[in-house]
Amino acid sequence: MSKPKVFIARKILDQGMQLILQSCDADVWQDEMPPSRPELLERVRGVIGLLPLLTDFIDAEVMDACGANLRVISNHAVGTDNIDVRAATRRGIAVGNTPGILTDATADFTFALLLSAARRITEADSFVRSGNWRTWSPALMLGSDLNGATLGIIGFGRIGQAVAKRAGGFNMNILFHDPNQVQLRSDLNARPVKMDFLLGNSDFISIHTPLTQETYHLIDKAAFEKMRSNAILINTARGAIVDPEALYQALRNHRIRAAALDVTEPEPIPPDSPLLDLDNLILSPHIASASQSTRERMSVMAAENLIAGVQGKIIPHCVNPEIYQQPI
Ligand code: DGY
Repeated sequence: MSKPKVFIARKILDQGMQLILQSCDADVWQDEMPPSRPELLERVRGVIGLLPLLTDFIDAEVMDACGANLRVISNHAVGTDNIDVRAATRRGIAVGNTPGILTDATADFTFALLLSAARRITEADSFVRSGNWRTWSPALMLGSDLNGATLGIIGFGRIGQAVAKRAGGFNMNILFHDPNQVQLRSDLNARPVKMDFLLGNSDFISIHTPLTQETYHLIDKAAFEKMRSNAILINTARGAIVDPEALYQALRNHRIRAAALDVTEPEPIPPDSPLLDLDNLILSPHIASASQSTRERMSVMAAENLIAGVQGKIIPHCVNPEIYQQPI
């Protein structure tokens, strides 16, 4: 029997790739760069399953290019803002993601950024390497304490809560804002508050909400104006939640102390972006989930969703389970 035809938009880690190759007739995009739009539209023709990365925009046009047999889009990410999930649901196509497994890696990395920004670690590293360090000095590179400081967490799902757990170990006060969670979380010592209260009362603000129409540029000029002047902003969620122009002004004018971003709008950040000139900004290339074992597990989870979908089974991690209720 012939294997189901699938398109894999990039080489993923071997653990997942081997599973796919055993069960599917896979066309794997080999380049490091994503397929261009015309290449994507061409390569997906006739597939039953599609495995995109977060860099691949899968909208109705791509789904239609796949053809009527498309059953599953298995995203190699927990976020699905690169997929028009509604268009998939209308067509009865299952959309899969990789929840849970990247929670700890992402929360760890959030804390790495938070500590680096608080204690100016990347700035200090450049200072030493560039030969500017002349002697020990009482006021050299003074940073912010975590002990007793207030951390405001925007979005209190799995990752937001894992960040709160870590913050408890540093004796931080924890506020959170999440429209879906309004109860005090005494287990995490975390208090739900309105957005404006969080912005105005946090020394550190960490973003863990998905990118949606409601959260696009949630952190804009008005939001920066409400923040404390010593505030440090951390973003490991999605770049477009923060307005880059407003961020630039806030950092340049010292409206807030610093920021650390694993995600930017756009990605990669353009080489001529004025943000790159700021020394109170730390940047990393969207690697919060990039630990070896996490990425291995992501590849397996994405493969399992894909394989179940092409075999006509209910996929294990589905973001639009309502498709299984629709009459066929
Ligand atoms: C995700 O999965 O959504 C992350 O941004 C990348 O791991």
